Amino acid sequence: MNTRHSVALVTGANRGLGLAFAHELLARGATKVYAGVRDIGSIDASNPAIVPVQLDVTNAMSVAAAAARCADITLLINNAGIARVLPSLLDPDWIGSSQEIMETNFYGIVRTTQAFAPVLSANGNGAIVNVLSDTTWFARPMLSAYAASKSAAWSFTNASRIELREHGIHVLGMHVGFLDTDMTKGYELKKTNPREAASYTLGELERGAHEALVDENTRQVQGSLSSGNAAYYLNVPALA
Ligand SMILES: NC(=O)c1ccc[n+]([C@@H]2O[C@H](COP(=O)([O-])OP(=O)(O)OC[C@H]3O[C@@H](n4cnc5c(N)ncnc54)[C@H](OP(=O)(O)O)[C@@H]3O)[C@@H](O)[C@H]2O)c1
Repeated sequence: MNTRHSVALVTGANRGLGLAFAHELLARGATKVYAGVRDIGSIDASNPAIVPVQLDVTNAMSVAAAAARCADITLLINNAGIARVLPSLLDPDWIGSSQEIMETNFYGIVRTTQAFAPVLSANGNGAIVNVLSDTTWFARPMLSAYAASKSAAWSFTNASRIELREHGIHVLGMHVGFLDTDMTKGYELKKTNPREAASYTLGELERGAHEALVDENTRQVQGSLSSGNAAYYLNVPALA
């Protein structure tokens, strides 16, 4: 799809990667970007091309209201997400924490896909970008609940790609390692600039790719899957 002249909705667009997607879309000539946010007041109102829309992806009524409001979109970017660091798989809070994460990272994508697919189909030549992670294929124990949510979202992305193709909707999964956003604040890690990640992903979308593997570590992890020495066996030194 060509992002020029597109009308996009980016979930969680008030900061981090979502805001980077909004700016990158406008730089590429998008006509309008709806910023789907929990708190309308968290959006800088000085740019009239960014239109704030109340949206909580864990709330079906909020998602339905946003779908009614944003009936002209041709691109949905499912970016909203949360992460929780849990010290151990044996943590008694594991199930409770993972339920909160799944509500946002997995069911959030399911809700918006179900609500917006008819809109994208009606407007023609639509696309959905689902923001996933290298944790889809490599579950660090301290991020195990988050990784499970991204693996589930990857599977849903793959099913969406097949079913929604019949409705004229292209689906792309974005996989990326650590990004320099609030989510990783305070952690000394190698991080990708979110604007560069957004730019790379939209470039891949424009050339019709099914997945965007944003950074070298993510490409290594994905490439290792069928190697007999998969990254999820904990065998990739660069990620240990
Ligand atoms: N940072 C990384 O290292 C990294 C790596 C791989 C993938 N990702 C993924 O990239 C995406 C963006 O993350 P980020 O790094 O930009 O994190 P971030 O700076 O923490 O931003 C998260 C965004 O998601 C929004 N959000 C959370 N729950 C929501 C809900 N229920 N409804 C609507 N919006 C909600 C937040 O809104 P509020 O301001 O209201 O909280 C915020 O805008 C996520 O899907 C994340 O899993 C991040």
